[in-house]
This record gives sequence, structure tokens and C-alpha cells, in this order.
Amino acid sequence: MLSLVLPTYNEAKNIPELLPKLEEILTGIEHEIIIVDDDSPDGTWHIALELAQGREDLHVIRRLGRRGLSSAVIEGFLAAKGDVFAVMDADGQHDFELLPALYHAVRSGSGIAVGSRYVEGGSVGEWDERRQVLSRIATRLALFLCAVKVKDPMSGFFAIERSLFERVVTKLNPKGFKILLDLLVCVPRETQVTEHPFTFRKRLHGQSKLSLRVQVDFLEYLYDVTVGKYIPLTFVKYSLVGTLGVFVHLCAYYAITRFVLQSSHPSVGGFSIAVIGATETAIVFNFFLNNIWTFAGQRLQGKQAAVGFLKFNIACLFGALVNWGVSTSLFALKWQEFLAVFLGAMAGVMWNYTVNRIFTWKE
Ligand code: GDD
Ligand code: MN
Repeated sequence: MLSLVLPTYNEAKNIPELLPKLEEILTGIEHEIIIVDDDSPDGTWHIALELAQGREDLHVIRRLGRRGLSSAVIEGFLAAKGDVFAVMDADGQHDFELLPALYHAVRSGSGIAVGSRYVEGGSVGEWDERRQVLSRIATRLALFLCAVKVKDPMSGFFAIERSLFERVVTKLNPKGFKILLDLLVCVPRETQVTEHPFTFRKRLHGQSKLSLRVQVDFLEYLYDVTVGKYIPLTFVKYSLVGTLGVFVHLCAYYAITRFVLQSSHPSVGGFSIAVIGATETAIVFNFFLNNIWTFAGQRLQGKQAAVGFLKFNIACLFGALVNWGVSTSLFALKWQEFLAVFLGAMAGVMWNYTVNRIFTWKE
């Protein structure tokens, strides 16, 4: 049995056009169709549910508060009953005439059968230059990682054997669009993968959801599965924020001594107060940026953010004390003023990442 998953986001106009064509092409193959919709504002889920009335072979999953092509496909496969799974765009861009061939390829031994734009006979159709270049670059980068190499690892049109999917599902990374790539990274090397040419068509209605966010997700994914195994991306981001934070700290120190205390030769007491003010300014800055960027996936909001900010301050307290102690001592020892501020800040930074990772933004 074939389980075909159609991920949808704002495809209300396309679904009613696509389904009859699928019915036609799939006659003779036992099948079910699973539409996984992320609560589309255009009501795709509603239209799909209406079409599913009285039909045994059409199912609708409406997900609330979640977005993402890959995770939608994974969820669809997890609900599927067939022994062969397939996925295609719900906008008419993938050539449904190819579905039986993909299905039969898996039935006769392929672990994965890919609808491919880059093998002989396939093409990307009428894409603009920019999209073609982006796709080629992404494909090149992606190929480094695949356990099994294919010409079109970024295709959104393929079929896979149930048992193979089940073998790797827990290893998948559900961010973004690149579900096939992720499968090709995770499957055993000896997996048989076949490619079947097709020409990428124009969308029937609506617009592509391949946003800048999806492209950034792709780059993050490449990082995650390579260098990220050793140096987590959050750590790199956290370090960048920390570096900016040191700069903010220096600027705040300057502003406090020069404009608030109005002294270009502060006493040790004045220096030490200015360092405290600068440290808190940097803490506010770091918390804000880490919360909206570094840990965007676990972003704290409203009351949670207030509690998080308090925790962040407590967690930073030891680092801040180190910062204060080091910079004030160096300054009292007649070290150059800004060097003392800088070295103190650096000493404080060292300590913070691990503590906040464990304490504030625990996953
Ligand atoms: N449930 C759900 N949630 N579905 C989504 C989401 C989402 O967040 N984002 C997109 N979709 C659905 C769309 O409604 C469509 O049916 C399908 O996933 C593909 O999205 P498109 O917006 O049509 O993507 P595209 O045509 O620009 O990109 C195609 O080519 C890429 C490679 O160049 C797709 O086939 C991609 O899968 C492929 O990687
Ligand atoms: Mn599409």
C-alpha cells in the first residue's frame, strides 16, 4: 500500500484541483493520502476535511502552533499505514504521473526513489536565475554530507520504504525543508537509491514558502551535522553576543565615567561604581540578544522572560563579581583604565555560557 503525504500551508485552491488528478493516476495502486496542514490561515485544512467526508482513503492532520515542511512530512509518515511512503508538493509542481514509477521502484527493492530534476531527462523548468543558482549551491553543499549520493538531494518529491524510514526516524532533524537530504544523511551507505527524471512545473496557485528563514535553517542544518557536532551553534552565537556585550560594556563604562560621573580620571571608587553600572548594562544587552537570537528556539516571553532575566542575573553574578574584582584590582594597580575594564569583562565572560546553558535556557 502507498501512503502519499501532502504537506500544505495555504494551498486551499490547489488541493481541490490536485486530488482528482491523484485519484486518476493512482487507480490500480492501493493507497491513502494524508494531508498535513499547519493550520493554514486560508483554511486549507477545512477544505481538505470537507473533501475527506465519506472517503476512507483521505486523512487530514491539522497541526496547531507549529510550522515546517520537514516536520509535517515526518508526522504524516508516522501516521501512515502503507509499506511505501511518498511525499510531493501540494501545488502541482511535482509531476504526479511519476508517482506509480516511484512506488514500483521502492516495491522492487529501492530504499528510496527520488523524483529528480537533475538527472538526464529532468529539469527545473521555468525557474529564475537566482533560484537556479541557489538550488545548485545548496545541492553541492548537501552532497558532501549524504551517505548515499544522488543528483538531486534537495528534491521534495520521493518515495521511501516504510522500514527504512522507521530505522532512521529518530535521527532526523525536523528543521526546515530538507527532509530528503536528511534521510540521505542518515540511511545506511548500502541503501539502494534510484532517481527518476521529471520537470518541475509552475505552481497552480499561490506562492512558494521557501523563505529566507528556510534558507538560513538550511545553513544552520549544514553546520549542525558537521562542525556543530563538536562546537554547538548556540555556543558560537552566544560567543558572538558575548563579544558584542564586551563592547557594550566598554561603551557603557565610558558613558558612565565621562557623562554621569563627569570625570576623565576616575578614583578607584568611581571606577568601581562605573564598572558595576557597565556590567549591568551589558547583562541587559546580552540577555535580550541571547533570548531573541541565540536561544530563539526556546525564546522566553512575558512573565517567563522576567523570571529568565532574573535567573540570568543570578547566573551572571559570579562572573560579574570576577569582572568587578579583576578590573578594580588592575585599575588600583595603575593598569591602563580601559585595559582594566576589558580584561575584567573577559574574565567574567568565560564563566557564563555553561552556567546559563544549564540554568536559564535548559532545553
Ligand atoms: N505543513 C506544512 N508546513 N507544509 C508546508 C510548510 C509548512 O510550514 N511550508 C511549505 N509547505 C508545503 C507547501 O504548501 C507545499 O505543498 C510544499 O510544502 C512545498 O512548499 P513550496 O512552498 O511549494 O516549496 P517550493 O516549491 O518553493 O520548493 C520545492 O523545491 C525545493 C527544492 O528546490 C519543494 O519541493 C521543496 O520540498 C524542495 O526542497
Ligand atoms: Mn512547490
